[in-house]
Amino acid sequence: MQEFNTKILKPTKKNIELASQELKGGNLVGMPTETVYGLAANAFSEEAVSKIFIAKNRPQDNPLIVHVHKNYNIYSLVSDVSPMAKKLLNAFTPGPITLVFKSKGSVCESVSKGLGTIAIRIPEHKVAQKLLKTCNLPIAAPSANISSRMSATNAKAVFEELNGKLPIILDGKSSKIGIESTVVDVTGEYPIILRPGKITQNMIERVVNQVTEKTVYEKNQKVVSPGVKYKHYLPSVPVYVAKEGEYEEANKVYNSLKAKNLNPIIVCLKNEKKHFKNNQVAVIGANSISLAKNLYSFLRKLEKEYSHIIIMSVNNQGFGLSVMNRINKMHTFIE
Ligand code: TXA
Ligand code: MG
Repeated sequence: MQEFNTKILKPTKKNIELASQELKGGNLVGMPTETVYGLAANAFSEEAVSKIFIAKNRPQDNPLIVHVHKNYNIYSLVSDVSPMAKKLLNAFTPGPITLVFKSKGSVCESVSKGLGTIAIRIPEHKVAQKLLKTCNLPIAAPSANISSRMSATNAKAVFEELNGKLPIILDGKSSKIGIESTVVDVTGEYPIILRPGKITQNMIERVVNQVTEKTVYEKNQKVVSPGVKYKHYLPSVPVYVAKEGEYEEANKVYNSLKAKNLNPIIVCLKNEKKHFKNNQVAVIGANSISLAKNLYSFLRKLEKEYSHIIIMSVNNQGFGLSVMNRINKMHTFIE
């Protein structure tokens, strides 16, 4: 693969034009969105899309989300858009949601991986909108991280993950939401949540006025996103996920690591700090919203400084459920 002198560029008109030229020329670009940063490629070009899989070391059967600007004619990409799907489009796009439709087959094969469906996202982030508008192409973009690693929520994190594999990363500051979009299958009678996110089950049910089926976090999954079976969101050091409010458990794990001369840290919300006495603690935020926003950037810092990360679970409801969906997948050791 070609080596690049990767540059982080301010999102000026000129630089967005440069990034658009790279996309048109078949190269990859780091694109900010309000959820996490994406590793962007022209979804019409088999060659460009194959570079994503190589750069990320992504499993070959995992399909990609296609990003478009808000005035793009998505009907050139998707078919069979139900009234339910239209309601979700109207209510939540542009925004942190991805909808899976039947595909017209106009993007290249390796985007949909033979599923016959296509996942569409219209991000709200201004820089993403400008880039998508400037190139006026459907852009395939997974999260901009090496497969199995945490997503990147700022330009520097993209650089650390993918330096040399792409010419340009557009700097769109820290991603406002911090965890990946809600993925919803809208090909059937009712919406099925394949991956929970900022747009919660409740919000979706209110808009479509019917019960949604959630699959990702329940055992009897009917529809599965291929991505769900792989390891995800992992820091480079072991993570222990302590149950909500189980401070004694967290302290016990911490102390036993300390006794082995290791260097652990406990990650918790502001109001939980008092439960950890003199133990090393990082306060990540006040609630599940700041927890999500800071999650990956915090852990990227802590993995460089500590041997083990112990993280406190938060209430598993609403947006908390979406954040816990990511955190639970990080659990890699048992004391
Ligand atoms: O917030 C996000 O969604 C970010 C930003 C960059 O847009 N993107 C992202 O992409 O998280 P990725 O590739 O890391 O995760 C996409 C998920 C995967 O689990 C994949 O299997 C699923 O969406 N997916 C993509 N296309 C699909 C399809 N046609 N049917 C079912 N699942 C699909
Ligand atoms: Mg990802």
